[in-house]
Amino acid sequence: MQIRAAAPEDCLAIAQMHKGRLPDSFLGFLGTQFLVFFYKSLLESKIGFIIVAEEDKQVVGFYSGIVNKHKFCLYLVKNKTLGTIHFLFPHFFNIRVLRKIFEDFRYAWKNQKGVVLPEAITLGLCVSKEYEGKEIGRKLFFATVAAFQEEGITEFNIVAGSDRLAAQRFFNHVGCDKMGEFELHKGKLSTLYVWKKK
Ligand SMILES: CC(C)(COP(=O)(O)OP(=O)(O)OC[C@H]1O[C@@H](n2cnc3c(N)ncnc32)[C@H](O)[C@@H]1OP(=O)(O)O)[C@@H](O)C(=O)NCCC(=O)NCCS
Repeated sequence: MQIRAAAPEDCLAIAQMHKGRLPDSFLGFLGTQFLVFFYKSLLESKIGFIIVAEEDKQVVGFYSGIVNKHKFCLYLVKNKTLGTIHFLFPHFFNIRVLRKIFEDFRYAWKNQKGVVLPEAITLGLCVSKEYEGKEIGRKLFFATVAAFQEEGITEFNIVAGSDRLAAQRFFNHVGCDKMGEFELHKGKLSTLYVWKKK
């Protein structure tokens, strides 16, 4: 099994895995085509990176990091507005979806009340079902830590659905600090973690 930086050609497999493993996440809900566009934009922007786990030439896990969430939001607005409109067009008349897009941007843009969060964030840690429990998640997590450290970043935040008990255990296991819970999307609790070099 190899852990390596993702290339644009990996984005379809990454998007399919995100959709399959995190179907109830908001990005997952927006569909595979949007996710391919999103992850390719992340690589192009060079404001973030994606790490993949590969086995027999298949992507069996991935994790992505955004070095500076404000810069990445601005990058999307400045360079990817047309693409975003194109891929989100089918959802444009759905008020609930528009509200969730707004809530995601607000999360990326604003700090939670009274908490100053790191600029660096992660998205979408996933391991294929048949490869779970083999420490691939752990390897992806620490490869992400190393990639952030290469950029001089020693802390980042993570949001996981509060109902995802395996993910909660995972983030505790790898040494993240639980900062509290908040409603990223109305009516659904999310848990906020910070990983900090100790
Ligand atoms: C969460 C996930 C990435 C873990 O990947 P993994 O490769 O199976 O994890 P690892 O084998 O590295 O496990 C490391 C530790 O995490 C915890 N853990 C992992 N999977 C768990 C599960 N299903 N139930 C309880 N604890 C679990 C354990 O503490 C484990 O250590 P241990 O085996 O010594 O007890 C994987 O289960 C997954 O893709 N889940 C679906 C997507 C998801 O929820 N992602 C989180 C995004 S918010």
